[in-house]
Amino acid sequence: MANSPSGDSVTDRVVRILETFGTDRTVQTAAQIGRRAGLPSSTAHRLVAELVDSGLLERDDEHRVRLGMRLWELALRGSTALRLRQAALPFMEHVQARVREHTQLAVLEQGAALFLERLSSPASGANITRIAGRLPLHASSSGLVLLAHAPAELQKAVLASPLVALSPETITDAATLRRTLAEVRRDGWVIAPGSIEVVSTGVAVPVRDRGDVVAALSVVLPREAPTAGPLEALRAAAVGIQNVLAADRR
Ligand code: PHB
Repeated sequence: MANSPSGDSVTDRVVRILETFGTDRTVQTAAQIGRRAGLPSSTAHRLVAELVDSGLLERDDEHRVRLGMRLWELALRGSTALRLRQAALPFMEHVQARVREHTQLAVLEQGAALFLERLSSPASGANITRIAGRLPLHASSSGLVLLAHAPAELQKAVLASPLVALSPETITDAATLRRTLAEVRRDGWVIAPGSIEVVSTGVAVPVRDRGDVVAALSVVLPREAPTAGPLEALRAAAVGIQNVLAADRR
């Protein structure tokens, strides 16, 4: 791929453009994209126009830009995320119908819990999780499950990094986190009261594909809600998902 005078490739620049979009920043002008991607204005306008032509970005009537449906289509096609989501969805629906609170599926992605799916009802309580959004590994119930089964180097890196508090009850101390991760591996679940928001409790279990933990299945409950029933529902769902994944030879 041809390099610019600054040495970055076209691919680098396109990735930087795409990364300027976030769960809270879904629509931008080409000028804003250029600034946020650190690109000269002319380069940004040209690349954005090419990406709009290809359908990877879309422009609205006011000339503002968002991620294109074509990008979604290509990203999902044959992806691990889609395979997992399809296997999990019927079981997630069952959990959601039984627990009647947010039910979500997350995978480990670049040092964070990335959420592939979230089922909620209008009566469900508070929840900051977004589909295609991330939560920190040390702070969320899903993240704790994923981190407990992550490669040793990632665990070491997280334990050595500053553990930022999202609420007064987030684990911010490496020794406590290390102990919690060992408990998650021993018990096969985690209950994280108030870790992200004081008003909620996250409950999460691992989902395995032929032995390896590939996802975390969780519910977000009101803080004082009983956890035994939701935990039982999650564990049964995880077994169901694992059976579907084991039968799926794709
Ligand atoms: C959690 O997984 O622990 C969690 C996630 C989102 C919330 C609260 C808790 O809003």
